[in-house]
Amino acid sequence: MKAETTIKLADHCLGRAFLHLQCLVRGGKWSWHLAGLCRELFKCASMILGAALVLGTTLGGVAANSSGTYSEPFRPQYHFAPEKNWMNDPNGMVFYEGEYHLFYQYNPFGDKWGHMSWGHAVSPDMVHWKHLPLALPEEDGVMIFSGSAVVDLHNSSGFGKDGKPPMVAIYTGYNITNNLQYQCIAYSNDKGRTWTKYAGNPVINLNSKDFRDPKVQWHEPTKRWIMTVSLSAEHKVCFYGSTKLKEWTLLSQFGPAGATSGVWECPDLFELPVEGTNEKRWALVVNIGSGSVAGGSGGQYFIGQFDGTNFIADKDSVLKPTPEFVPEGKVLADFEGETYGDWKATGEAFGPGPARGKFSNQNPVGGYQGERLVNSYFKDDRTTGTLTSPEFDVTQPFLNFLIGGGAQKATRMDLLMDGKVVRTASGADNERLAWGSWNVREFQGRKAVLQIVDEAAGGWGHINVDQITLADAPAHPASESALWLDYGPDYYAAVSWSDVPGSDGRRLWLGWMSNWQYGQEVPTAPWRSAMSIPREVGLRKTAEGIRLVQKPVREMEKLRGQHFQFKCGDIAEANAWLKKNTIVGNQLELIVELDAAATGTTGLKVLKGAKEATVIGVDRERDHVFVDRTQSGDVNFHPKFSGVQDAPLAARDGKVKLHVFVDACSVEVFVNDGEILFTDLVFPSGDSRGVELFASAPSVNIDSIEAWPLKSSWR
Ligand code: FRU
Repeated sequence: MKAETTIKLADHCLGRAFLHLQCLVRGGKWSWHLAGLCRELFKCASMILGAALVLGTTLGGVAANSSGTYSEPFRPQYHFAPEKNWMNDPNGMVFYEGEYHLFYQYNPFGDKWGHMSWGHAVSPDMVHWKHLPLALPEEDGVMIFSGSAVVDLHNSSGFGKDGKPPMVAIYTGYNITNNLQYQCIAYSNDKGRTWTKYAGNPVINLNSKDFRDPKVQWHEPTKRWIMTVSLSAEHKVCFYGSTKLKEWTLLSQFGPAGATSGVWECPDLFELPVEGTNEKRWALVVNIGSGSVAGGSGGQYFIGQFDGTNFIADKDSVLKPTPEFVPEGKVLADFEGETYGDWKATGEAFGPGPARGKFSNQNPVGGYQGERLVNSYFKDDRTTGTLTSPEFDVTQPFLNFLIGGGAQKATRMDLLMDGKVVRTASGADNERLAWGSWNVREFQGRKAVLQIVDEAAGGWGHINVDQITLADAPAHPASESALWLDYGPDYYAAVSWSDVPGSDGRRLWLGWMSNWQYGQEVPTAPWRSAMSIPREVGLRKTAEGIRLVQKPVREMEKLRGQHFQFKCGDIAEANAWLKKNTIVGNQLELIVELDAAATGTTGLKVLKGAKEATVIGVDRERDHVFVDRTQSGDVNFHPKFSGVQDAPLAARDGKVKLHVFVDACSVEVFVNDGEILFTDLVFPSGDSRGVELFASAPSVNIDSIEAWPLKSSWR
């Protein structure tokens, strides 16, 4: 191995580490970036060691070609995934001469982030993909970060050849030596198969370390190219204009607005008709690296007008932050005494009684009420123990509490009914306590016990708790509000295809089906990450304003096998029908219409085994729809993976429609014709293949079920 290459590898990891460090300094989701920083530094050391193994390999020689069987455990059967190695964002989405191109952030050398280059695949229908060799490799110390591609129909760039328009890629170059990010271009004269980087690169350089992910489109009214690109750490999107794709002029900026707790990345901008009207609107999509609705990375959008220079958001698409809400209630424990009173402590972690704020060598603790709180950092993180409440009556439907400290399962508060844990909560790797809440309606009238547990001895090995209260409504912490593209945790960096013919007229896209919180740890090999299914984007008028909706592209129907249909019945009848027709499996499409006039929780379990299931439900008490993956299978590979995601539901005529796609390691749910989406990775055991309906009130009516087994698009 050449010394030069070894140094390069170290640099690459340090580069990503540096990105995290920058975010830490600039006040991004700091715990995530701290973890990221440590991970990258660790990775750096191990990569240098591992580098010796790739002796003799050159970047240009590595292709993203497939010869694999696509039959490994968790291998997506109809989602795009590379045969091997690491993938993140979709890039360079463009349609040209009958082919949908999908370029993507790719590490040709490993199954974690690094050596970012553009992998490449083409498809006639966005469903069946053919892998092609690496399109744009990392080169000369510059990684190829995310970006877009266009067909330069009138050869404005002059890169065309033999009267044919060139394909031009516009991407961020990430210089691993000085960490600068700048915009570059490259062109292809053979339908994206081979590329030439422009000699005049970079085409925009602000000497910025956070300037990335250009999305370019032709704007006919002003007859120029528009680039939408993010100043990530400033939470801004910049619009640039150009006539030749080579020189660019800053037109305007948008932001900060909406969700800003994470870096802004991978923006997109497009115009769409509003369903059923003659109106048109622009959607500006902005992804955030952390602090999204389901935790970690996710996508938000704004609706407004774009005149070729400025994007002006509609007022009702820029939501105000939700303030903290704490209902009055019956306080079970305020931990204001010298001792724990009738709560019983074991071990050393909890000390003799509630703490007066932080301990001497602890970072500042905030957010608790009164003078004291439970703080298991008594000596330091190393101590462990439990703190158990006396039995109490569950007299109200919600149990609210302040919680902080470690995010891991080993630092938690449990609710026990008859000795069995029925609810559990942890902190967020933050010393500051925030309101948490459990719906305990189903336990009302019974006796329960709370147990605060500290079984962790390492970093963040402590838990902070205060003000445990029974109330009639859930408490929630203040939160940033935004219009979310997806309420699941695994839909990031979605960008739309350019140059889809006007005769088709659809706005089409897909997203990276993972999350920066745990994407590099998911238990798949030899590949890591898949894309979501392709979706058609639309705009719909709702009572709250114009909202973005997504539906599966019609091409997905090609994968459907036999059609099964159930009409009108109760839960028992619907379940008997599912059983009779053997509706099971991990390649399934289901459409369930529920009559939601009922109360309680109704829903669907998929990938169900003896002890596992991914639960998709409608909670009528709160008018929420949710996906619960806490029991979905392997949830322990990362502390942030397990969880329940939910979204407020606007019921239409009392009905709820759940359109569900189940694959080997994912569940995608389109609620009410694409108004709410959930994209969730799950890692069930191989025999968890069941489908079952459930309801807290058995009289719930199931209007209809449609089910199809889905064919593999790879085999
Ligand atoms: C988003 C992102 C982009 C960047 C790319 C690097 O997931 O961080 O902002 O261009 O990944 O791989």
